Amino acid sequence: MCGIVGYIGKRKASEILINGLKRLEYRGYDSSGVALYENDKINILKQQGKVNQLDRMIPHDMVKSNIGIAHTRWATHGFPNYENAHPHTDNSKEIAIVHNGIIENYSAIKKKLLQDGYTFESDTDTEVLAVFIGALYKKTKNLEQAVRLALNEVDGTYGIAVVSSYEPDKIIAARLGSPMILGIGEDEYILASDAAAIIAHTKQVIYLEDKEMVVVRGDGYSTKTIDNLATTGDIKEIDFDIEQIEKSGYEHFMLKEIFEQPDSIRNSLRGRLIIDKGNVRLGGLNSVRDKLLRAKRIILTACGTSWHAALTAEYLIEQLAHIPVEVEYASEFRYRNPIIGPDDIVFALSQSGETLDTLAAIKEAQLKGATTLGIVNVVGSTIARETEAGIYLHAGPEIGVASTKAYTSQLTVMALIALYLGRQRYLSQLDGKRIGSEMMALPDKITSILAQTDKIKEIADQYYQVTNCLYLGRGVNFPLALEGALKLKEISYIHAEGYPAAEMKHGPIALIDENMPIIFIATQDEIYDKVLSNIEEVRTRRGKVIAIANEGDTRIASLANHVIYIPNTLPMLNPILAVVPLQLLSYYIAIKLGRDVDQPRNLAKSVTVE
Ligand code: F6R
Repeated sequence: MCGIVGYIGKRKASEILINGLKRLEYRGYDSSGVALYENDKINILKQQGKVNQLDRMIPHDMVKSNIGIAHTRWATHGFPNYENAHPHTDNSKEIAIVHNGIIENYSAIKKKLLQDGYTFESDTDTEVLAVFIGALYKKTKNLEQAVRLALNEVDGTYGIAVVSSYEPDKIIAARLGSPMILGIGEDEYILASDAAAIIAHTKQVIYLEDKEMVVVRGDGYSTKTIDNLATTGDIKEIDFDIEQIEKSGYEHFMLKEIFEQPDSIRNSLRGRLIIDKGNVRLGGLNSVRDKLLRAKRIILTACGTSWHAALTAEYLIEQLAHIPVEVEYASEFRYRNPIIGPDDIVFALSQSGETLDTLAAIKEAQLKGATTLGIVNVVGSTIARETEAGIYLHAGPEIGVASTKAYTSQLTVMALIALYLGRQRYLSQLDGKRIGSEMMALPDKITSILAQTDKIKEIADQYYQVTNCLYLGRGVNFPLALEGALKLKEISYIHAEGYPAAEMKHGPIALIDENMPIIFIATQDEIYDKVLSNIEEVRTRRGKVIAIANEGDTRIASLANHVIYIPNTLPMLNPILAVVPLQLLSYYIAIKLGRDVDQPRNLAKSVTVE
């Protein structure tokens, strides 16, 4: 969603800010803007539209400023237009702010400011905060104090950066529930809401804590709480390299990330499997090991693709560890007074670690005494910090909005957790070894699936004009049907639905005619024969069948219009392989339709609003 970049140093701020915003484009946005301090005033350029357009509006040759802030906005309060784009200013136009998050009590603050004679040009909560800071500056004549006082009054979430011509030697930034990172370079500092905007300049960073602020000058910085208590501001190192957030010759990030899966899965597994003992080492769970062993129930909560990974994990944990598992949409969980208590373990699955609904779900679980654990990709993200313990995916940064490699890493890590729990309960060492060896073989098997890309592209070429699509699977392949359908709809805008294959006859079968492609995940397991029967039912109604089947399957070719073969593995691990052709199919259909696959319309990479 929204992105923030700030720069103070010796170099030209405009170029660094624009390049930083370009690194954040993947998060999704609809307007962009920049505020630069120059000629004793704050100069603002903003617009509805892409960062490239903003770049063209800035006379880089003439602008010399070396301090500024910039923003990409994903509309929440008010339309995506010029007035609502950030930066916003106070009434004197001498203070500018950019803001991520939502100020929940903005109406009350606005009402009071209106009574005091202040005026507003936009519909945003952010402008209210800017005007509020301006009003407090009038009284205090101290920018830091004005920001601090304002932040103490607001409810909601914020990551903010503030510049002012009153005190032009500094940027002030703060966070509450919305990330803010200070990059420490040589004689310069870069502030950003996402490390992707910092990595080109430095790897040394401070992740601000909730209610922490930083005052950054060209020659130093100080961190403190919004109550003015000094903090330590621990310096950490960004855990990825710049090449990982570049396309490296691929046409799109999504394609690159699909092809990275052999490596991302290797990284998720690295050092965690002890094959000769059939065991799993998960250092991140050591501190809660006893609680996990005592767990009577596990709750998995997540949104979107991460929720699909959680659904798969339900099968894995119940099968290997015999612990009852419930899977909850985070957005529903938080609002329905869930029955949970101190004996429950709640895992939050989130690629970004910033999804607001998931964050709120774990806060609800914490309130009720449950142990909360995070399965997160982005190191240092809010969910990683708010949970008691957890495991990082180590999939590397995922830039394509549609999740691919993070999903397969979520499945991999959840399989590790299932094995870890299983081995401490009922699972034999022999079974542990067998499962562990199969997991180690997954990356090479994915490489062999990727070698079939041309064939999958040909199928996409035949079906890209359809308007509806059905994805069917059973058992552990059912959540995969949901994920396949989601992947297609979000990047191609073709309507698609996922169902348990046997449910088809209870309704969706009415949709089937000769124009309807049905994608069956028909890998070898104990219900394979039943899936073949479902395929027969579709064929009888002249539906077009695209099947994902295992190598060596001799029966399916005569039933399906197209078969994509994937290597054999344990049925429980099948989704990790079978999702790859589904990702490629969606990708090539979307490409053929000319869609913006990396930044599909209306979508954001990390959803930090309800
Ligand atoms: C779809 C997709 C989304 C996310 C969802 C949760 O491809 O990526 O459905 O899975 O918004 O995001 P995270 O995993 O960051 O919590």
